[in-house]
Parts: sequence; structure tokens; C-alpha cells
Amino acid sequence: MVLTLFFTAVGIGVFVLVFFMMRGDKARWRSKQEKAKSEMEQQHREAAGAGKGGGGRKGKGSLQKGAAAKAIGKPGKAAAEKATHHPLYVNNLKGFAGEIYCVVIDNVSSQICVACGDRTLRVFTIDKSKPIEEAMQNPPYARGNIEADSASACDFTADGQQVVAAMMQSRCLAVHRIAKDPAKGKAMQVVYRTEQPVHKNEVKFLSASKGKWVVTASCDDDTDVKIWSYRGELLASYDTKQVRNYFTTTSLLDGRFVGVAAWSPGIKIMEVTSKNQEFSKLSRAMDLKTDRGANAVAFYPDHKKAIIATKDAALALWTIDVRYHMSEDPRKLHTHQEDDPMFKNWTALAVTPDCSRLVAVAERHIKIFSLPKFECVDKVEDAHQSPILTLAMAPDGHFFATGAADHKPRIWRIP
Ligand SMILES: *[C@@H]1O[C@H](CO)[C@@H](O)[C@H](O)[C@H]1NC(C)=O
Ligand SMILES: *[C@@H]1O[C@H](CO)[C@@H](O)[C@H](O)[C@H]1NC(C)=O
Repeated sequence: MVLTLFFTAVGIGVFVLVFFMMRGDKARWRSKQEKAKSEMEQQHREAAGAGKGGGGRKGKGSLQKGAAAKAIGKPGKAAAEKATHHPLYVNNLKGFAGEIYCVVIDNVSSQICVACGDRTLRVFTIDKSKPIEEAMQNPPYARGNIEADSASACDFTADGQQVVAAMMQSRCLAVHRIAKDPAKGKAMQVVYRTEQPVHKNEVKFLSASKGKWVVTASCDDDTDVKIWSYRGELLASYDTKQVRNYFTTTSLLDGRFVGVAAWSPGIKIMEVTSKNQEFSKLSRAMDLKTDRGANAVAFYPDHKKAIIATKDAALALWTIDVRYHMSEDPRKLHTHQEDDPMFKNWTALAVTPDCSRLVAVAERHIKIFSLPKFECVDKVEDAHQSPILTLAMAPDGHFFATGAADHKPRIWRIP
């Protein structure tokens, strides 16, 4: 009897202790979140101040003193300035006051969408009848302001009328309608927003333009690839279980293949099956077997080949035009071992629609190879002041775009 009482008392004691510890943790976590939020708001106010003050003003509170500017070294800045004289440089899209997280280019509507850390989404309309230099000279844009958040990834819907964006803090999906007449400065409106976060970690990859579905993928230990409807219903999900996700891509024109490069060896390729632009199924197609982890992957738009960048700075071309349903294995065709020390860490890849060029990004630098033999056609060292965060290939093959922390999404020619 005494013993029973004793154990009951100890049990209650432990329970109470655990309860208070958990409350403490929660409070600490909450205050951390609030601190991060107020820091973000401060940065945003500074950014807004700098914007209003005009280009010439560099006083206190201007962006030059912002956290992003501090992280970027002076030498990087001078070198990135030099890159604007590179023959491949076309222009940069202007008016941003934050890191450029995502740039996407839509073929149907000739629009470019940029997600920026200044809490905006902007959709630029490109006049295709003009030469590219002129078309990129201050094109008109529609602007969407995001309340207390920024978009980490975005893409157009299949009809080019809306933009699906993933929020950085809340990790929700929000669908924005693009204003009909951007020249008149109309804003974008949120027409739908999910209640729940769509991923555990930040959404780094989002594709919505290949049909009426949205593919999302995250980073670090969130290794799920998920498919959503435009209304945020989960349609399918696949966990690659590759420890850390580095890079996700879909094939350029129809999105049939989804490829994931990760910490664990081997590229996982999934197949999206669709009918009349409606999603029907996500299935595992094949693995490209590598003996180490990979940084990036890109598909030929015709689905016949894939290019992967492994951690040892090697690029490899694979044929994936095999009967994988019958367990026929993809084969490696060529490799390129990079020995230029500036290009030791490939971070993004994209293939032109005609399959003749590969755009390969290594942190701040860009190299362009001819395919299939990986002959270097041109390179841009210090294309940005800091590592490139986003790479977008124009589906018409006329140009590509890059974005980084330096506030300037840049447009480049394809040689
Ligand atoms: C993109 O547009 C070009 C010309 O406007 C067209 O030839 C091409 O087929 C389009 N590609 C896609 C994927 O719609
Ligand atoms: C490669 O670049 C990425 C992006 O800048 C960076 O996060 C990563 O640490 C780099 N890896 C190596 C091995 O330098």
C-alpha cells in the first residue's frame, strides 16, 4: 500500500516536471520565432525606406546597411559589376529590394515571375516582338505584396493566368491571380491559400505550369516529393529517403519526369502520368546509379537523356530512353571531369529546348557546354555577387535567367 502510494507520487512528480519542461521549450521556441519575425520586419522597413529614398540616397537605414548587403563581400560586387560587360549579359530586371529566391519563365504568356525577399511576387510581361535587349528594358509588371512573408518558390499555372507560390515562413501554398493590365500598376490578388503547411522545411522547388497540378519539393531532411491540385489537395506523395534533398527538377516542356539529386548516391526519377492536363498518377520510374551523392540533375526536353552533377565536380550524360517498366537500366554515355577550381561545386543545371546546350551553375559562376560532349562554349565568372539561388531556362530557348542575394535577377543569352 505504502509502496503503491510512493510510486503514484513519483509518477505525478515526473509528469509535472515533463509538462513544465515542455512549456518552457514551447515558450522559447515561440520567442525565437517572434524575434526572427521582428528582425525580418525591421529589414523590410529598411528595404522599403531605401526604395522610397530613390537610388541616390545611401543614408542610414538604406539597403547598403541591410543584412543581405553585409553578407556580400566588396570584391564580389566589383566582379559581378564586371559581368554586366560580358557578351552573354542582356540586362537585369529592376526594382527589387531583397534576395531573389525564384525566377520562372512562362512560354504560353511570355511572362517572367520573380519571388523576392522584399515580400513581393512580380510578373513581368515580355514583348516577344522586340529584340531581347529591348524587351528586357524595364518591362511592365504586376506586383503582388505578400503579408508578413516572402515566397520561396513559384510557378505559373498551365494557362499562364495565375501564379502558385510557396510561402517561406508559413510554408503554405497561395494562388495569385495576375492583373489583366500590368501597365496600369494593378496588383495581384490571392485567390486561394492552403490552411496547412505543405512541407516540413522550406519549399525550394515548385512546378505548376506543366498541367493542372503542382509538384513541390523541399530541402535538407524533408525528402518528400508531393503533388497537389491547384486548390491545395494532396494528390500524391513519394519519399525518396535520401537523407538530404539538394535539387529537384521536372522535364522542361511537359513535366513528365521529376528528378531528385540528394546526399545519398543515385538520382531518383519519378514519372507523372496525366490525361488532358489532369494528373493521374506519380510512380517511381528509375534510378541513375552513382557511387556518390549528387548536386543537380536536368532532363533533355525530349526525355531521352539526363545530365547529373555529382559531388566530385563531374558531369555525366545518361540515356534514360530505356524500357524501365521492364527493368531495363539507364546507361551512362559521357562524363566530364571539371578541373577549373572555380567550378568545383555545381549547384544547378538546365538544358536548352533544342538539347544543344547545357547551362551549369557553380555557386556564383556559370558555364555553358555544348551537348552531348560537354565542350565548354562560354563561361561567366562572378555572374552574381553571391551564390546563385535560382536558374530558369526560357522554354523558347532564347535566354535564361538567374537570381541571387544581390537583388538583381539577370537575363543571359544562350550562345
Ligand atoms: C514555346 O513557344 C514557342 C514559340 O512561341 C513554340 O514554338 C514552342 O512550341 C513553345 N513551347 C512550349 C513548351 O509550349
Ligand atoms: C556548394 O554550394 C552551395 C550553395 O552555395 C553551398 O551551400 C555548399 O556548401 C557548397 N558545397 C561545397 C562542398 O562547397
